[in-house]
Amino acid sequence: MSTTENRAEFGSTLGFILSAAGSAVGLGNIWKFPGKAYACGGGAFLIIYLIIVAVVGTSVMMAEFTIGRKTHKNAVGAIRELNAKWSWVGGLGILTGFIILCYYCQVGGWAMYYIVGYITDVQTVWADPMAYFLGMLGANGFPLAALIWGLVFLFLTAFIISHGTAGIEKMSTILMPILFILLIGLMIRACTLPGADEGLGYMLHVDFSTINTTAILTALGQAFFSLSLGMGVMITYASYLSSDDNLVSNTAIVCTLDTLVALFAGFMIIPAVFATGIAPGMGGGFAFATLAGVFMAIPGGQFVGMLFYFLLFFAAITSSTSILEGTVSFLVEEKGMERKKTLVMVSIVLYIVGVLYTLSQAYMNIPGYWISINGIEVTIFGNMLEYLTDRLLLPLGAFLTTFFVGWIWGTNNSIDEATGYGRNKFALAKPYAFIVKYIDPIAIGAIIIAGMVFGMSIS
Ligand code: TRP
Repeated sequence: MSTTENRAEFGSTLGFILSAAGSAVGLGNIWKFPGKAYACGGGAFLIIYLIIVAVVGTSVMMAEFTIGRKTHKNAVGAIRELNAKWSWVGGLGILTGFIILCYYCQVGGWAMYYIVGYITDVQTVWADPMAYFLGMLGANGFPLAALIWGLVFLFLTAFIISHGTAGIEKMSTILMPILFILLIGLMIRACTLPGADEGLGYMLHVDFSTINTTAILTALGQAFFSLSLGMGVMITYASYLSSDDNLVSNTAIVCTLDTLVALFAGFMIIPAVFATGIAPGMGGGFAFATLAGVFMAIPGGQFVGMLFYFLLFFAAITSSTSILEGTVSFLVEEKGMERKKTLVMVSIVLYIVGVLYTLSQAYMNIPGYWISINGIEVTIFGNMLEYLTDRLLLPLGAFLTTFFVGWIWGTNNSIDEATGYGRNKFALAKPYAFIVKYIDPIAIGAIIIAGMVFGMSIS
């Protein structure tokens, strides 16, 4: 069970897949993905997204997995061991994770707010789903309840990190499959709502004129976010793997599961948007306001809704813990800080920025409260944080990771690790090497630069 450095290892391949998939499947799939697919033109966006996952996503994940298992270290330590000059790449990832967590914990809190809403006051939620969503965010005054739930979510994340993740990993072996099945069921129900065919048409109609730099950059950032790539989380996870585990099949399975969940969510929410007419702009309310229309149309919808938000909360917390673990283990292992103290300090800062995030969401949803910069509507602590992480820092992290593997550490070393030094097959080893060396850095680099040069519109 332990390696030379006394680090624990995953007890089984399944344990690893569930943990990596637990990190990957989260708010990104269910809260973010449908909104982006909707804003970026439906079908054409889906195709771009799938291509990006298949080519860039899998290769970046493999790159991170091989770095992690080779060194058995956290992201910074791992890269330092392979080449000391590059350890800052891991550090950049820690910063990115920190920014993501600020808003991630708030949205996790929204899911908890909705669990309570469905239990105690479902009539109000259903009477006017949009008003309920905006009310949560402070349209009628200070959003105290949402902020308290954000705090509870953050507290739970920190609590789990300080007490070990074994418990939630066990729970996720049961709850993640339930989420998977529930999503399929809800997707079928949403697609059969009267008026849903228009939404289905929207998702299946491929019109490449909707694809511009913004859409491609959005798809790229979304893929990294959804697959938990670009900030070393998968390096850290793979560092707990033993040399018997097959990185090739693990990569394929985690990428496939994560993408299926995103697609299910997309084909559940977008048809519902068309069927119910509840389209919450870009405030990210798709997983909240719109779905009321689906639950209302189901017998036992109150219970199903509650179950859905509970599973969403659970999916979110298996992701938030993966990010916080990265931040904390970096500060503890690399900076010699004390673990409990670090957790408290990090959480306080996270919460303060998170409060600003939720507060600016309220303004984003009230027309007239946007600040417009070059035609892009932003609120500093609102979508600005998401832009910074999804459109700049995650792609940058992935760019640097692939550049590092392709040109510094070397694709042969990475492939040796991927095959467990010849133990398992890697049929796509040659394409992988080519992609990591050329396609990934060039494509990701070009897209980041294009995004900066041509500017971006909202999505
Ligand atoms: N992938 C998670 C989601 O889709 C979020 C997440 C967890 C993440 N760990 C990450 C995003 C690391 C980027 C990097 O909700």
